[in-house]
Amino acid sequence: MSMGPGLGGGRGMRPGTSLVRNGQDPATTQRLPKGLIRRVWRQFARPYRGKLVQLLVAISAASALVVVPALLIQPIVNAISSQPPGAARIVTVYALALFGVAIAASAFSLWQRYLSSWIGEQLIFDLRRMLYDHVQRMPLAFFTRTQTGALISRLNNDVIGAQRALTGTFGTLTANIVQVVAAVGTMFAIEWRLTLLTLSVLPLFVVLAKNVGKKLQALTRESMQLNAEMNTVMTERFNVSGALLVKLFGRPVQETGTFAGSAQRVADVGIRSAVVGRLFFVILSLVGALGTAAVYLIGGRLALSGQMSPGAVVAFAALVTQAYQPLAALTNAPVEVLTALVSFDRVFEILDLRHPIADAEGAVALAAPRGEIVFDDVRFAYPSAADSSLASLERGFGAVLDATPGAEVLHGVSFVAEPGQTVALVGPSGAGKSTIIGLVSRLYDVTSGAVRLDGHDVRDVTLASLSAAVGVVSQDPHLFHDTIRENLRYARPEATDAQIEAACRAAQIHTVIAALADGYDTVVGDPAARSSAWRSRVCY
Ligand SMILES: Nc1ncnc2c1ncn2[C@@H]1O[C@H](COP(=O)(O)OP(=O)(O)OP(=O)(O)O)[C@@H](O)[C@H]1O
Ligand SMILES: [Mg+2]
Repeated sequence: MSMGPGLGGGRGMRPGTSLVRNGQDPATTQRLPKGLIRRVWRQFARPYRGKLVQLLVAISAASALVVVPALLIQPIVNAISSQPPGAARIVTVYALALFGVAIAASAFSLWQRYLSSWIGEQLIFDLRRMLYDHVQRMPLAFFTRTQTGALISRLNNDVIGAQRALTGTFGTLTANIVQVVAAVGTMFAIEWRLTLLTLSVLPLFVVLAKNVGKKLQALTRESMQLNAEMNTVMTERFNVSGALLVKLFGRPVQETGTFAGSAQRVADVGIRSAVVGRLFFVILSLVGALGTAAVYLIGGRLALSGQMSPGAVVAFAALVTQAYQPLAALTNAPVEVLTALVSFDRVFEILDLRHPIADAEGAVALAAPRGEIVFDDVRFAYPSAADSSLASLERGFGAVLDATPGAEVLHGVSFVAEPGQTVALVGPSGAGKSTIIGLVSRLYDVTSGAVRLDGHDVRDVTLASLSAAVGVVSQDPHLFHDTIRENLRYARPEATDAQIEAACRAAQIHTVIAALADGYDTVVGDPAARSSAWRSRVCY
């Protein structure tokens, strides 16, 4: 048996990670992959298609109703200006109709809101459950590299972003299309020359809107990334181990400085998005004002020469704004759809991570394990950064992952640990003791050679039976925020109280637990670590 000297000083550093700080962040500039929309549809929209169709109907009805008031105003204004017989009745009927339309529009808008929130919340639930399930099955290498904060942000912010993409963007798109068709169609019916005139300013607007839209998309991605970085700083410091380190060795002023720097970047990007977003609306309202002015200028003259009724001019002016607004939004629709899909892309990025350590095809369950452990010429190198993590989940804006595997840590280790035998591995720090133990539980897989348990290669048995057979007390115990009893039961949920107590007596910890006020029902874990005698005695 030969154990390597290990990589001196390699611990704590991240071998192979190079931080590129040139502002070109691959996570914020990357293009969306092909087929993303099809995948979103297949995986997340299709199950709700019934509700989605209803939503489509509700949105279309509500949007189409938007142009109706302009049409109802026309006879009112005409009746007032030309005062035909029965003018008062016309005014009353159309005024009441205006209110009726408003009631119908409100009903549709409530129905629409119910449907979009139903679909949205269901989608959030689906995505969260899928992500959680996928992430917890990732190999340990993933967690050793990944920033918890960035990961949690994926499960919170990006999942909500994806929901907005499906219900928000999809809804606005439909509403805008229906509204444009209804408004422009009605305008053409009233006065086609005036319609062409008012639409002629649009190309100028399209160019402006496109540019602003691109800028907004870039800012959205950047903002998500910066938020994740800020969360990482907090999650790393605000847990017991992180806080302890900061207390013992940290410099609070610098710590606050680091956090403030991160929070400042979030603030800066927030201001930039707000201003750019507003710029969009400023341009929009200026174009709208120009259109309305043109309608009164030309339409007013047409009405004076008797070619248009006064009511038609007023109705037309109202319709111009109703057409511009959705048209403006639609010029930017491709960008908005892409921006919204960024979140789906970020969610899929995680769901597509491979699970390299999973049950092999035809894996067998270890039955009644005896406990013979054989290492047969085992060579092992820790996997490369690129193989175990994602650039966007690593520290730093623009982290680029190295694909070269770590240096070999175990150079042909062979030994046999017989059932019932007590074997101690002794060696200097970094020699590879913990690595050897990890290979038995398949925290990692060997690079070459084999680890056998009762004659079975550990890669050929099911992970569930392997973890049931191998008990590990780690160097750095972790307790969940729950009672001692439930923490002990984590490895074997069906253990009886008597079995738990017997195990604790064997580990000579029973008297310590029994002396606590709540005994086995004492709550331990992170928040309790401050005062808990149990934790201080057992874990430090
Ligand atoms: N997650 C990891 N990624 C990359 N390299 C690692 C990782 N964990 C350990 N190493 C490297 O593998 C070598 C063996 O480490 P290991 O933790 O097995 O040593 P050890 O014998 O348990 O040391 P100690 O006595 O300090 O616990 C060291 O060079 C270490 O830097
Ligand atoms: Mg160790």
